Amino acid sequence: MIGCGYLGAVHSACLARLGHEVVGVDVDESKVAALGAGRATFHEPGLDDLLAASGDRLRFSTSVGDAADARVHFIAVGTPQSRDGAAADLSHVEAAVDGLLPVLGPGHLVVGKSTVPVGTAQRLAERVESRGARLAWNPEFLREGFAVADTLRPDRLVYGVRGGDDESVALLDEVHASALAAGTPRIVTDFATAELVKTAANAFLATKISFINAMAEIAEVTGADVATLADAIGLDERIGRRFLNAGIGFGGGCLPKDIRAFRARAVELGVGESLAFLDHVDQINRRRRQRVVDLLDFELGGLRGRRIAVLGLAFKPDSDDVRDSPALEVARRLTDAGAFVSATDPEAVPTARRLLPQLDYTESVREAVAGADAIVVVTEWKAFRELDPREVASWTDARVIVDARNCLDPAPWRAAGFTYRGLGRH
Ligand code: UGA
Repeated sequence: MIGCGYLGAVHSACLARLGHEVVGVDVDESKVAALGAGRATFHEPGLDDLLAASGDRLRFSTSVGDAADARVHFIAVGTPQSRDGAAADLSHVEAAVDGLLPVLGPGHLVVGKSTVPVGTAQRLAERVESRGARLAWNPEFLREGFAVADTLRPDRLVYGVRGGDDESVALLDEVHASALAAGTPRIVTDFATAELVKTAANAFLATKISFINAMAEIAEVTGADVATLADAIGLDERIGRRFLNAGIGFGGGCLPKDIRAFRARAVELGVGESLAFLDHVDQINRRRRQRVVDLLDFELGGLRGRRIAVLGLAFKPDSDDVRDSPALEVARRLTDAGAFVSATDPEAVPTARRLLPQLDYTESVREAVAGADAIVVVTEWKAFRELDPREVASWTDARVIVDARNCLDPAPWRAAGFTYRGLGRH
């Protein structure tokens, strides 16, 4: 497994759990040392237990030479947004493949899992084939917070291979034998389709979220309720209720950068118009972050000198990931506007502190809200959804609560004396 970040660490542990012998390779010595000692370098439910239980079947190393005996080489490195534009930065993928070339030979299979612009696999295949090995593209659909379950029981397997490459399909089937035995659908296709399945899936999910957030903007000027609207349209099976939660929108290390890279790739291919709508998806998403700041500004009659308790820092619950986190961006905009922010999160305080040291981090909701003028819930952790409004009222004089995830029941908060503001709700 080349790359032991989110994807690679989870996959290494899950493949070992399924009985395979796995060597995880990463250039980051501290990551390799932590994983080797059975500790993930990020919060993911169930992962530490898997790492601890994998025994001899799982090793980690900084040297690709330790993977020389492997028959299947997964590429699981990151493809972040490039520093100078919207396109994906493929330097880690390029380096991973080049680093592997010396250990490759006939009978070896390189399997790309990273999210890449369509056309990448075709280009990399030529290099891999020059060593007598083969390439396949096997995109990954795991969600943070459910990564172990999604990997052990995926909802589909997609293999992109050269036409007629039955040998690679058979080897991938061997790797995924237990999921296939459980009836997981498997789609065998070409490189371009496999690459596109991944980017199209993430673009669709992002569009679904921005669609409902656009409806929230309409609801805000008409007095309608977007949560009820989502329930009602979601009952149509063709639409479905999942991923229709209006709020502060999507963040994380995948959806935002993937829609930008997809759009950039379409422009390169001369079909930019086809994905022009993704610019709007991105803009709607960014507007929601500002809407939360504006609501607080309005309710407090200005932000300068105010103290605001920010509940949540991770981009979503059950994660300590703060990459492109809406919560962190709201906190930053509040401090830029002259407010003091006290912030808490069940898992993400250490990761957030590295990016935004100017916040006043606390260990508990009680400490965060003490002395605050307003409270904003930005990540829908269970611990926040289950807060007792009367108890919170006894901890603070704040009487404004902005529910940026529409995850609270307004009635008890209002009954406890709070001015409740959701997004797209009245
Ligand atoms: C996403 C995809 O869901 C995975 O299928 C994919 O494999 C992964 O990206 C990836 O490319 O690696 P993830 O980033 O873990 O997974 O998070 P999601 O569960 O998709 O949530 C993304 C964001 O959308 C979060 O900030 C979440 O709070 C937000 N969201 C989600 C909403 O605002 N509303 C919703 O209804 C659902």
